[in-house]
Amino acid sequence: MGDNLTPIDTAARDFTRQVVARLEHCSDPRLRALVAGLVRHLHEFAIEESLTDAEWMAGIRFLTDVGHITTDQRQEFILLSDTLGLSMLVDLINHGAGSTATESTVLGPFYVEGSPWRSNGDAITDDLGDQPLLVTGHVRDTSGRPLPGATVDVWQNATNRLYAVQDDTQSPENLRGRFRTDGDGAFAFRTVRPVDYPIPADGPVGRMLKATGRHPWRPAHIHFMVSANGYLPVTTHVFDSESRYLESDVVFGVKESLVRPFAVHDPDDAAEPAGISGRWYTVDIDIVLRPQEAG
Ligand code: BEZ
Ligand code: FE
Repeated sequence: MGDNLTPIDTAARDFTRQVVARLEHCSDPRLRALVAGLVRHLHEFAIEESLTDAEWMAGIRFLTDVGHITTDQRQEFILLSDTLGLSMLVDLINHGAGSTATESTVLGPFYVEGSPWRSNGDAITDDLGDQPLLVTGHVRDTSGRPLPGATVDVWQNATNRLYAVQDDTQSPENLRGRFRTDGDGAFAFRTVRPVDYPIPADGPVGRMLKATGRHPWRPAHIHFMVSANGYLPVTTHVFDSESRYLESDVVFGVKESLVRPFAVHDPDDAAEPAGISGRWYTVDIDIVLRPQEAG
């Protein structure tokens, strides 16, 4: 490798070593390793791409814009991490090792703590619309044993593509709720079939997507955050197998194990749940949690 280095490459690599050496008095070994790694990879990126002054400045301006638009309500840095695949890479590193537990995926910006507690079978919205959906499932451990008393926190978007936190026309508690699994580890709720939607694309991340020829869409899904005493919690989704964006999710959040068919039922199906009329859908899911001590 060293044979083909230009004088600039050689000087640049020597310079990188000097910058990393400045960290020698850092007393926190993990911090030192992280900053040194960041410096090495950032420098390597600049060298490999022969980064120009103008490109460096454009990058600074872009990050400045990401900072300016970020507020308590809008986290453009996480959106940037999501759309560059960093969030799902960190997820893979930390939660990707061959377990039979339910796989995790991105949390996303629309989670709101403290959703209303609801009873199994309840609707999480007052308007079940023309694509009502019955979600049923069980929370189990990795040996298949049901977990009674687990918390199932769910949230999703409305048929206008928006989550309640994005939309003044929805009640703040619309399409979200917490359920407690029953003695068989079961939960159930009625909702509307979620729809594909674009992530917030009116800021610098949206400009980046446009400039790089990417679309802003996520495939239709319901978010789940599931926890039980003594088990590792999981933050995940269930994706609608009919979405056209499963292969190109803008935040790379789709895992095959999380995709489910939403079965369609006739209006005269005898099992039609309360409050549902016309054509309706069902999806049944098992959420599997790993015991805490398994790490
Ligand atoms: C979401 O699914 O709510 C989401 C995830 C990542 C970025 C934007 C939205
Ligand atoms: Fe979402």
